[in-house]
Amino acid sequence: MSAINILGINGSIRSNSSSHAVMNEVIRYFPDNTNVTLFERLADIPAFDGSETDPEPVRYFKDQIKQAHAIVICTPEYAFGVPGALKNALDWTVGTGDFFNKPVALITASSQGEKGHEALQHILMAIGAILDPATTLLVSFIRAKTKEGKVVDASTLDLINGVSRHLIERVEKPSD
Ligand SMILES: Cc1cc2nc3c(=O)[nH]c(=O)nc-3n(C[C@H](O)[C@H](O)[C@H](O)COP(=O)(O)O)c2cc1C
Repeated sequence: MSAINILGINGSIRSNSSSHAVMNEVIRYFPDNTNVTLFERLADIPAFDGSETDPEPVRYFKDQIKQAHAIVICTPEYAFGVPGALKNALDWTVGTGDFFNKPVALITASSQGEKGHEALQHILMAIGAILDPATTLLVSFIRAKTKEGKVVDASTLDLINGVSRHLIERVEKPSD
């Protein structure tokens, strides 16, 4: 495969969130032929209202998904669940199947994170994304593993490297 397009979605809108630090590492481990686009407009997506016509930010979101060979989601857990802005964006895709057959890497980076991580896997399965244990990672105690906006814990970096590698393999050899 020549160029691989990856869409990165941060579940936290905070610019200096731990998810951004994790996303930066995921990207760093991708090979040179990877084009990464970060979805920066999560906060622009209006509350899902079931309307048949998508508002412009939703059309933009779906277009970004369409252009991606695979998607990376890095997110914290908020209030024992998926952050509202991320959940809302995904709700818009339920009826239109935009994630169907898309390989997705999911990294939950949080204080604990188990419940949000599990809930997000259910959602992604429900919308037909391809999830794989090799591209699904929970990083608890994330604050202790980051310093000055960078992931510094060596074993966490190894695990993130594995997620990046397996996601690219999944795109290059989809039937494996
Ligand atoms: C509104 C809010 C709710 C939170 N709820 C949880 C939670 O339920 N479980 C958890 O592990 N961490 C929770 N946290 C802590 C985050 O996991 C922690 O801030 C972590 O460092 C990631 O957040 P960040 O990506 O915004 O930096 C919460 C943080 C906020 C701001």
